[in-house]
Amino acid sequence: MQLKTLLFISHTPSENTAILANSCMAAIDSFTEDLIITHKSSGDVVSQDVLACDGLLLATTENIGYMAGLTKDLFDRCYYEWLGTTDGLPTAVYIRAGLDGTATSRAISQIASGLSWRLIRPPLILKGDYIQQFEEQVAELGGAFSAGLESGLF
Ligand SMILES: Cc1cc2nc3c(=O)[nH]c(=O)nc-3n(C[C@H](O)[C@H](O)[C@H](O)COP(=O)(O)O)c2cc1C
Repeated sequence: MQLKTLLFISHTPSENTAILANSCMAAIDSFTEDLIITHKSSGDVVSQDVLACDGLLLATTENIGYMAGLTKDLFDRCYYEWLGTTDGLPTAVYIRAGLDGTATSRAISQIASGLSWRLIRPPLILKGDYIQQFEEQVAELGGAFSAGLESGLF
């Protein structure tokens, strides 16, 4: 049986966002046994990473009313290599947003739609002052997504 690959792309410019990525990774690790997990920062991702994965978990912050620059840069660099080659890619998204997050959610949903990626649920927005509950929310998302990918649900 060919093992599936989950690609986790995170942008972690702060201590809180690094904690969130670690919580998400810990849940992925604990919910799966037979999944190849690749975790990369958005700036380090090349188009081939997504072409080679079976599921994508994308974490970004919202800055100045849009997704983080390094997240946008990823789409700027790779969009046309993914267009038509990644149709149906199961995708989950979480957004750390100190104030809002809706513009980033809308933009990523539109880009995912343009690429024919399959968002397994609407982007999770972690909005407002940081609370520990965010860690449980990203863990739930990471665990559900990875377990579903491994089991063939997605
Ligand atoms: C320059 C700058 C611009 C920001 N703009 C937004 C914004 O437009 N919308 C929003 O929801 N949060 C905004 N934030 C807050 C960040 O989303 C938040 O600080 C980031 O996700 C890291 O989370 P943390 O503060 O819990 O570490 C901004 C932060 C910075 C530093």
